[in-house]
Amino acid sequence: MSAGRLAGRRALITGAGSGIGAAAAWRLAADGARVFTADFKGAVDRQVDVTVPGANAALVTEAVERLGGLDIVVPCAGVSAFHPLEGHDDAYFDMVMAVNVTAVFRLIRDCVPALQLSAHGRIITIGSTMAQFGDAGLVAYGTSKHAVLGMTRSVAVELGQYGITANCLMPGAIETPMTEPAFTQMPQFKTYWQNKASLGRLGQPEDIADVIAFLASDDARFMSGQGFFVDGGAMQRQ
Ligand SMILES: NC(=O)c1ccc[n+]([C@@H]2O[C@H](COP(=O)([O-])OP(=O)(O)OC[C@H]3O[C@@H](n4cnc5c(N)ncnc54)[C@H](O)[C@@H]3O)[C@@H](O)[C@H]2O)c1
Repeated sequence: MSAGRLAGRRALITGAGSGIGAAAAWRLAADGARVFTADFKGAVDRQVDVTVPGANAALVTEAVERLGGLDIVVPCAGVSAFHPLEGHDDAYFDMVMAVNVTAVFRLIRDCVPALQLSAHGRIITIGSTMAQFGDAGLVAYGTSKHAVLGMTRSVAVELGQYGITANCLMPGAIETPMTEPAFTQMPQFKTYWQNKASLGRLGQPEDIADVIAFLASDDARFMSGQGFFVDGGAMQRQ
């Protein structure tokens, strides 16, 4: 067994093909966990579209078969783009909800039997500062992330009886392929978030992955049903 605070733990991460999910996979593995990764793209264990009905159940089955069980679940697959309310079509809204909400719900639901068998069940969802605040052009995204925080809180209450914790990590502006187009096309947006953060910089995927690893560890055993800003101190600032 590998050394590390997550030695012996088994993790399933979606959205692990890039950005925060990829960094989380590396970090959990570095802490000793065995990790099963899934995404549309990238060097992952299973290429999958998490919005396809049955896809999340199949992922759980495969992860449990490969790892011999499951302790940590991180539904990290997500989408975002700016869409003003004017001319906002139904299809884009529905797509955002399908990836950011429905697929997260299905993965959590489908993991419950495996997590009930774990002595260290951890569900770590990925919200956003947009899970508590709003911004122009982010109606669909903001709606979806508020939903993820609400989902996590109810899941925490329902699954606490099995010793399973559920927490929602709410990143600020992180430099990943998701934000790259906006930061490139709107440099003022990048500067805004840099300046808004008390630490004066944008986040890196590792800034989030390290907190995911903490929430997955025994150090966070008495924390559940919470949403945590990991935003360099951006949202506490006027
Ligand atoms: N980057 C940020 O500033 C930021 C801030 C707050 C929250 N988040 C959240 O963090 C999570 C990860 O985002 P990221 O910034 O690493 O972006 P990213 O684009 O690098 O990673 C998201 C991953 O999700 C995958 N994905 C999207 N739709 C999928 C689908 N239908 N099936 C399978 N995989 C799919 C993509 O292929 C991609 O690899 C998302 O939930 C995002 O909303 C990001």
